[in-house]
Amino acid sequence: MNLVFIGAPGSGKGTQAKRLIESFGFIQLSTGDLLRNSIAKGEPLGMEAKKFMNNGALVPDGILVSLVSHFLDSLKPGQSVIYDGFPRTVNQALELGKMLESKKQGIDRVIYFNVDFSVLTARLTGRRTCSKCGEIYHVVTKPSKVDSVCDKCGGALTQRPDDKEEVISKRLSEYSANTAPTIDYYRSSGKFLEINAEADVGVVEKSILKFLNLDNNR
Ligand code: AP5
Repeated sequence: MNLVFIGAPGSGKGTQAKRLIESFGFIQLSTGDLLRNSIAKGEPLGMEAKKFMNNGALVPDGILVSLVSHFLDSLKPGQSVIYDGFPRTVNQALELGKMLESKKQGIDRVIYFNVDFSVLTARLTGRRTCSKCGEIYHVVTKPSKVDSVCDKCGGALTQRPDDKEEVISKRLSEYSANTAPTIDYYRSSGKFLEINAEADVGVVEKSILKFLNLDNNR
């Protein structure tokens, strides 16, 4: 199954992807994580992407398409993938369609995480992420038991450089300009679910499992 998660920064895509991975063995393609890994390794691609990411701008489509193409080539047949944060332009959606078609696949489901912008800044400025296992926390709504230490693996919790208020507003305007039209591109596909992602994490998860017919498999 190829599943696309689309929504504004902080709408909860990564949080829900982690839950599906743990319960059902999905593989997550987070283009944000791939780019951050490339930056951490000091790769030329990462260094190029960093200029855009630290300002809250989208990284050019060409870089993303090349990253995703390599990812798809590395997959084993039959693996179920969550596309988290890709595509986020109409051009990326068209390119993903072509890449999957060349592998005799397509997109099976698209889930749009709808959240009012007014709640996103608090979610993003309070987010902390484990530098070792990627577990996602929030200083108010999901704090770790020990300050700055991951409950799961003991790794250090860090704040993303683009989770500062001034960068968040740029990310949200990029989302409105480029990703909102991508949502409309998928909306009429018949495989589309819009969820109220302001609801509690567990409630959001239940809506997703129902849509995927996985609610009886837990
Ligand atoms: P990326 O890393 O993809 O970031 P994003 O899309 O901005 O999304 P986030 O990771 O910020 O949010 P999320 O929806 O996963 O929320 P989360 O679950 O963590 O991209 C970063 C940058 O990389 C981009 O700005 C761009 O520069 C570049 N990039 C990446 N992909 C690209 C592409 N395709 N094209 C071009 N450029 C690209 O949750 C957030 C917080 O809220 C957490 O603290 C969590 O605990 C909390 N939370 C989650 N759900 C709930 C809930 N239901 N109720 C209350 N709190 C909740």
